[in-house]
Amino acid sequence: MFSERIERLMGSLIREILAAAQRPEVISFAGGLPQSSCLPKLDFSDVPQHLAQYGTTEGEPELREAIARQAQAMGIPCSADQVLVLTGSQQAIDLASKLFIDPGTPLVTEGPTYLAALQSFNLFGAKITAVAQRDGRLPPADLAAALDSVKPRLTYLIPSFQNPSGACYTEANRRELAEVLDAASTVVFEDDPYRALSYDGEAPAPLVSHLKKASWIYAGSFSKTLAPGLREGFLIATPDLYPLLVKLKQSTDLHSNRPGQWFIAKALNSPDYPVHLQRLRDTYRVGRDAMQAALEKHFADLADWQVPHGGLFFWLTLKQAQDTRVLLKVALEQENVAFMPGEPFYPDPQQGIGHLRLNFSHAAPERIDEGIARLAALIRQRQRA
Ligand SMILES: Cc1ncc(COP(=O)(O)O)c(C=O)c1O
Repeated sequence: MFSERIERLMGSLIREILAAAQRPEVISFAGGLPQSSCLPKLDFSDVPQHLAQYGTTEGEPELREAIARQAQAMGIPCSADQVLVLTGSQQAIDLASKLFIDPGTPLVTEGPTYLAALQSFNLFGAKITAVAQRDGRLPPADLAAALDSVKPRLTYLIPSFQNPSGACYTEANRRELAEVLDAASTVVFEDDPYRALSYDGEAPAPLVSHLKKASWIYAGSFSKTLAPGLREGFLIATPDLYPLLVKLKQSTDLHSNRPGQWFIAKALNSPDYPVHLQRLRDTYRVGRDAMQAALEKHFADLADWQVPHGGLFFWLTLKQAQDTRVLLKVALEQENVAFMPGEPFYPDPQQGIGHLRLNFSHAAPERIDEGIARLAALIRQRQRA
């Protein structure tokens, strides 16, 4: 009755458990939601009437120009003709999956990596090999070995403030990785939704800006900086891939919603935009620092972690590994605390045993210490049992 790929459609047990995290008494470190007070007011009172009509698949010219200008300033060699406006940057993952993956297609990602990318790649039947990050970087020799042995059609990387690890690769690491990728025949997909959320200085230029040979897709989002509810994101692609991605989007949703594109373009072109970004960074830095202080107080003997310089997450490695999916269930039931277990961020969940992802942008800073203390007490109790 259904397509054969539906057998690979992963139901998310965790999503069901996390539905319970919506209760007001729960301190949630689980999702990646922006703080509601940081979202701009949605004012559509002067939206042009002609935007009620169908538009082009590529997106509104004014927005494509604004995106290209920003990308050029970051060092990406591109023009507005290479920009495709998307319905959330999640759509870039869906379109790339459709473009490259048949059942059994080899693909390389970081380990850990974004779990909804894994869900999409798995749905299309990819055979995923994960290269482990080490000390906040991706070892070029390990990537080279993986590319050499599996010969992936696509290599999916999140070099800046990664979800879930928070890692941000140095400029030198990006150059080395670009060299390795150029030497292999793989398409590079750089996913970069967290770049603007930097708390201790800007992220280095995107990895794709260092590529000389490889074809690439660079995806960006307005969900973390403006309004996730509008579902607006974008991709920029090399000219060999771009027309195919446009056709795939056309067959998916014709085009992204035009009033939303108008709102985003207006925000990007506003002289207040840098002020808005600074406010976001200042707000989230407070959450990051509150969580770091709480972790030092309660988790020093329980886990290892690195302070993230951007993005929305801490990534903890427990000193005594335990299945954090089970831990989540108990934490919610007994302690009213939610977090994301590490296992689903790996193509092979067994590799992720003993990791927790903790979001610091959503819970109020004054509740962070309480939530972290409860979680630490529960882990201690389970270690003794
Ligand atoms: C790495 C990564 N890519 C893509 C997305 C999707 O974002 P969007 O809201 O733009 O679809 C997310 C969302 O959390 C993410 O963490």
